[in-house]
Amino acid sequence: MAGGAFVDSGVGAKDYPGKLTLYVFLSCVVAATGGLIFGYDIGISGGVTSMDSFLKKFFPSVYDKEQADTETNQYCKFDSQLLTTFTSSLYLAALISSFFAATVTRVFGRKWSMFGGGITFLMGAALNGFAKNVLMLIFGRILLGVGVGFANQSVPVYLSEMAPARLRGMLNIGFQLMITIGILAANLINYGTSKIKGGWGWRVSLALAAVPAGIITIGSLFLPDTPNSLIDRGHDEAARKMLHRIRGTDDIDEEYNDLVAASNDSKLVEHPWSNILRPKYRAQLTMAIMIPFFQQLTGINVIMFYAPVLFKTIGFGSDASLISAVITGLVNVFATLVSVFTVDKFGRRKLFLQGGSQMLVCQIVVGTMIAIKLGTSGEGSFGKTYAGFLVAFICLYVAGFAWSWGPLGWLVPSEIFPLEIRSAGQSINVSVNMLFTFIIAQAFLSMLCHFKFALFYFFGGWVFIMTTFIAFFLPETKNVPIEEMILVWKAHWFWGRYIADSDIHVGKNFEMANSKAKNVDV
Ligand code: BGC
Repeated sequence: MAGGAFVDSGVGAKDYPGKLTLYVFLSCVVAATGGLIFGYDIGISGGVTSMDSFLKKFFPSVYDKEQADTETNQYCKFDSQLLTTFTSSLYLAALISSFFAATVTRVFGRKWSMFGGGITFLMGAALNGFAKNVLMLIFGRILLGVGVGFANQSVPVYLSEMAPARLRGMLNIGFQLMITIGILAANLINYGTSKIKGGWGWRVSLALAAVPAGIITIGSLFLPDTPNSLIDRGHDEAARKMLHRIRGTDDIDEEYNDLVAASNDSKLVEHPWSNILRPKYRAQLTMAIMIPFFQQLTGINVIMFYAPVLFKTIGFGSDASLISAVITGLVNVFATLVSVFTVDKFGRRKLFLQGGSQMLVCQIVVGTMIAIKLGTSGEGSFGKTYAGFLVAFICLYVAGFAWSWGPLGWLVPSEIFPLEIRSAGQSINVSVNMLFTFIIAQAFLSMLCHFKFALFYFFGGWVFIMTTFIAFFLPETKNVPIEEMILVWKAHWFWGRYIADSDIHVGKNFEMANSKAKNVDV
């Protein structure tokens, strides 16, 4: 692969003994439910803020403006900054809280961050469900955001550490699968509650966030901590027992020794935040910033947040647009399953490259189809068949995201950092993700109004850039033990130069691995 520095899991691909035990599987399923709260929130906000009773109670000025709106330009119909500020305030809270979560995750263990996330989200759900005024509503949203920050910081790391290397992708993607299930559940619930006469449907939608929050809060109490975290916090014997239990074999010495070596390195690092800037972490730091940035620049949340608005723009009625949102929600869940079953076989890079190409083609088609009918004036409408094709291409785009940037945007950053800065690295990933989710949520409506159909070309341009970036700069990480990941970076044509041989203390077979690495397909 030209320039790809494709390291096909030859490096450090030591296969530790052990199998996928039921214990690990169940622990990962429970931890992954942390994704439900994030997904539920993504799915619920758009629907609630389009319910008249909700707007009348909390945002009467927005409601009045909407009623008086006689705009015929389809691109510029729904612009309301106040409302988007409310929706996206959660992402700012999540951004800030993920930095605090980094410390909790490192010092107290992964499970307590998950517990903290669940309980704060629970409080937020209660405040929102019973909200009497805007203050309660906003305070509730901040608590929800703190919950998301903690869960998204700790769950992916937990899953990547718990899983046996050769199944790490599959188990980690459980998190994204739960996100998509949360989104779909929220869309369905909104559909039901919007029909409640009496104007309190929105309360049900908001309060039901307590269900996923309850699941992860209670679930996390039963979770064991990861051996990596136990060793790092000085509980060596407990870590050995845990490794024994989760791998289901007595033959754990090799993996245990690698964890100890990683932990010894980790102890030399007192301040993860200043260390992360050192050249030897340049590759991982770049990925922790670029991957979430690119994930949001795919434009996926335009569909997730604004599907009802978007489908209305395309000319669907109110009900039909909600149903279309449910369709994209279903595609999102099922297409994620594709990555669950292929990510450890085909690898991360193939999914990234295929998914990216598919999204790009769909964005060009969707942009062009809208341009043909609405032009730059935004006046016009779509026939039934035409609109059907448009929805089909939007679904293909969502599918491409759902087996590439969606799951891999959480998997890859959680598996590439060495132990000493893993927690800090993951919180950078979360905060960059939240920052750009916020910016896009905030800017989308006015972008649609100004860019018109070219908005799809705009995101398509980014998808082209990110796919090229992956082709050149991301080495394959499938099947590589998490504490040996440095070998993969060392073997990369570009990043290798930042890592000295003396920086590498893991992998007994490093010499051998290194010589294998020289045979990489570049
Ligand atoms: C992203 C979210 C997005 C969701 C859609 C996640 O991986 O972080 O921003 O809404 O996927 O399924």
